[in-house]
Amino acid sequence: MAKELKKTKPSIANAPAAAAGKVPKKGDAMVAQESGSRNAPIINIGIDRQDRAAIAEGLSRVLADTYTLYLTTHNFHWNVTGPHFNSLHAMFMTQYTELWTATDVLAERIRALGHYAPGSYAEFSKISTVPDVPQTPPKAMEMVRILVKGHETVSRIAREFIPVAEEAGDDPTADMLTARCTVHDQTAWMLRSLLED
Ligand SMILES: [Fe+2]
Repeated sequence: MAKELKKTKPSIANAPAAAAGKVPKKGDAMVAQESGSRNAPIINIGIDRQDRAAIAEGLSRVLADTYTLYLTTHNFHWNVTGPHFNSLHAMFMTQYTELWTATDVLAERIRALGHYAPGSYAEFSKISTVPDVPQTPPKAMEMVRILVKGHETVSRIAREFIPVAEEAGDDPTADMLTARCTVHDQTAWMLRSLLED
């Protein structure tokens, strides 16, 4: 994993609230609340406290977006209609299963960095960039279009935080986010191909 910073930020220096020594926030939402107890030893994995907070914030946002995209995909698995029902119903199942599995990996990395993982609809709605599931099920190809945008959004959010992890020497997180970008880019391509003539 290359250590050199890419052109685009955020870096640790300008990661939201990290420079101020606070647990990062987005709006009123508390993101990546720090965990711990007097009985447990202080985390000493070679990544300092502020860096772990900035990385946990990025992972929390990716987790929230991944979960929202998971729920959207599962909803579409249930509610898709039309002549492409069979193929889309099966494809959406493959995709929501992958997304659900990814949420566990992301959440447990946040815990390994000493922060609580967000895991409620209230928290996810505050920090998610991917919009909530449509109230009324869209037509099949509109579902595909919504999922393309969702996967592209999660890819952008994950990619944004790779330099933050790299700069802190957190290769496991950088690798994890890189792997998520690979999956989201590939899934977006497959879905987008359904919309092309
Ligand atoms: Fe099912």
